[in-house]
Parts: sequence; structure tokens; C-alpha cells
Amino acid sequence: MQELIWINGEVMPLADARIGVEDRGYQFGDGVYESLRLYNGRPFAIDRHLDRLELSCGGIDLELPIDVDDLKDEMLRLAERVRIPDGFLYLQLTRGNSPRNHLFPQASKPTLLFYIREIPPVGPIGGGAGQSLLSVPDERWNRCWVKSISLLANVLARNAAAAAGVDEAAFVQDGWISECSSSNLFVVIDHMLVTAPVGPRVLPGITRAILLEAAKAMGIAAEERPIMYAEAIAADEIFIASTIRELAWVGKWDGNAVGGGRCGPMTIDLHKAFREYVAAN
Ligand code: PDD
Repeated sequence: MQELIWINGEVMPLADARIGVEDRGYQFGDGVYESLRLYNGRPFAIDRHLDRLELSCGGIDLELPIDVDDLKDEMLRLAERVRIPDGFLYLQLTRGNSPRNHLFPQASKPTLLFYIREIPPVGPIGGGAGQSLLSVPDERWNRCWVKSISLLANVLARNAAAAAGVDEAAFVQDGWISECSSSNLFVVIDHMLVTAPVGPRVLPGITRAILLEAAKAMGIAAEERPIMYAEAIAADEIFIASTIRELAWVGKWDGNAVGGGRCGPMTIDLHKAFREYVAAN
């Protein structure tokens, strides 16, 4: 199957797309991105992703070069054209190509692109062996609410986890956990769902937002507050959430068994509710 990309208004085979050497995304990491999942060939939660894209643009003084409704139409059109039932849409916007200078260019055209790739569907709810986490220091910047393409700290963290034979890195600073290298973290303590507040150190995850709404509708008590490492590893249930994983239960943290060593009942209920939301949207 030929993979297609939409790049600055043109659709072409992904392998044919070219970016200038002086693109500021390439040289400075000066850009933002979105990752969407396709279910049954349709981009899921596209409006929420586009809202977050606009938020991210505001966070780095970058303007979308296209009306957001037109962008949505173009994304839906590409999804219809590629017909990939279980897919991943990656969108990236950078400040464009111009002679290298830390100062924003006066007149450069942003580079906007998105493409769709096939990815495997998420497995059954509560299945699998459970994720393992490794604590790493949070060396990121203080605008983690911006979905910035400058992901080096996340990349290093994830690779430190992989080198230790662990699935995901959890950022811990001064005893507090913010989130993971590419997912939000949730814990259940005494029937209370807890996750850290979005802001300087936590991305406003789309999966996270849908789960908090689902919890409210289900009458599950939920709190957005900082979580101490010590209380997290003693929690009744732990799971991570993201577009790619949906919900994934955590069974090990820094080599110790956590969360009862199984996918807990609230995690299962929330995952069911998430799947129902997907089916209805
Ligand atoms: N990452 N926190 C971080 C640091 C992330 O990178 C992500 C997602 C999330 C979860 O957000 P969402 O539910 O909107 O996917 C939280 C994506 C999947 C990525 O980097 O490709």
C-alpha cells in the first residue's frame, strides 16, 4: 500500500516529500505536532486534537497557515483516500524554511504536513502482561502543555527505560510524578481516580480528558492534583493513557510489583467507557 502525505497543500507519496535543510523544525525543533488514531478509517477526536494544536501554536507564537476548518477537511479527505482502518495520523507544523537565525523570520511560510500510517489495533481490555515503568528525572522545559516537536528529553527518557528493559519512563521530580515520556499517568487510591494537573509539566492529553469526562459521568470520584511517588507505588491501580495505547495497566515500577500486579477493576471500567466513547464518536 502506498503511503500518502499532505504537505503544504499537496498530496504525494510519503517517500517523495522533501523538507528544506534550513527548516526551523529540523534546525531548532521550532514546531508543534499532533498524533491521532484512526478507528475504522476515521481520525478519532479530530476536533479535540485541532483545539490542542491551536493551543500549542499559541504557546510558541506560531500561526496556523490554513483555516482550522479547512485543515480538518483536508485531514478527513486524506483519511478517506488512504482507507487505513487502524491507523495513526501524524501532523507537524514548523516555523518553516529560512536562513538559520534564532530570531523568528519576518517572512517565512510555516511547513505543515500530515500523513497516515497503519498501526496495530490495541489489544483486549485488561490483557497483556502489564506495563513496567522506570523513574527518570524530569529534565524537560516548563511548557509541557505545548505539544512541541522538541522531544529530546522524552526520547532520552524512553531510551533509558528501554535500556533497563522497561516499557515507559515516568518523570519524577522532587518526589512528584508528572507524566510519562509519551503518556499521562493515572492512579487509583481508595476508589479515587487521581492524575496530575495539566500545565507546565503535564500535556493536556486527549485520552486523559476523555477519561476524566467518563469518570464524571460514571460517578467515579476524580482528583487532578500532584502525585507523590511514594503514594503512587502504593496505589491500588496504576495505568498510563495515550492515543497509541488507550489505557495500559502498570504492574511494575522501578523493578517492584505495583498496582496489585493485575489490571484493576476501575481501569477495566474506564477502558470500557473509553471504547464506548470511541464507538459513539
Ligand atoms: N504522545 N504526555 C505526553 C508527554 C505525550 O507525548 C502524550 C502523547 C500524552 C498523551 O496524550 P494523548 O492522549 O493526547 O495521546 C501525554 C503521543 C501519542 C506521541 O508522542 O506520539
